[in-house]
Amino acid sequence: MKPPVFYTGNTLPEDRQILAVFEPVAVDRLPLDLGEAALAYDGGAFCVLPGAGRAPYRPPALKAERISRKSLLARACGDRGPVLDAMAGWGTDALTLQALGLSVRVVERQPVVWGMLRGLGLNADLGDGFEWLHRQPWGVIYLDPMFEPRGRKGLAKQPLQMLQELAHADTRTLAEWIEAARSSAVDRVVLKQRRTAPPVARPDWQLKGRSVRFDVYRPAVRRAETDVG
Ligand SMILES: C[S@@+](CC[C@H](N)C(=O)[O-])C[C@H]1O[C@@H](n2cnc3c(N)ncnc32)[C@H](O)[C@@H]1O
Repeated sequence: MKPPVFYTGNTLPEDRQILAVFEPVAVDRLPLDLGEAALAYDGGAFCVLPGAGRAPYRPPALKAERISRKSLLARACGDRGPVLDAMAGWGTDALTLQALGLSVRVVERQPVVWGMLRGLGLNADLGDGFEWLHRQPWGVIYLDPMFEPRGRKGLAKQPLQMLQELAHADTRTLAEWIEAARSSAVDRVVLKQRRTAPPVARPDWQLKGRSVRFDVYRPAVRRAETDVG
């Protein structure tokens, strides 16, 4: 069964492909006790209806100061696209890399989140990012998995809290992701982690920020060549 999109009937032709993935339901049939988060649409504007009587949610717009070649994200990812962002979330990192001139394809498996990404104009596919690792040669494979919730002390910011509610846990280990990604990426694999998380496998280098860290892995083939030399 398709997930619902609550809509006003005001539809732009360019959004029809996105809406076709959902079951359109007139907004006046929106139940008061919406149990699960759903997508809402009105003439080009998408938002998340989080359910439980909460206000509609839109992830914050990309801040101009994030778009810097000196940022940790930009330095970790380098400049050799195309980039596959296999765990796209709200697309903030993907939009940042795209604004820096890289060609970026994103994959997200949560339909509501995917609808938001398409609404932002990203080249976004709905499905399992793991299956995209070997679909074509990627310059960079970028992985930003959900971190474990930290309990009350370190409550995540609202966009992440919302993702934690919506996203399903991936059944594979990060070691499996890294190994598969390293056998596909031409230039590098970048894994975003909490600053204090133990490394999944030995990275080639790390870039550390105040709360997060980027672990960068070179492709498996190139490492083998280096080892031989
Ligand atoms: C931490 S968020 C990514 C945040 C993102 N970097 C941003 O800038 O907004 C992780 C996302 O990966 C998605 N995800 C997890 N496993 C996935 C998979 N196997 N395929 C596609 N998406 C996946 C989750 O649904 C979640 O939205």
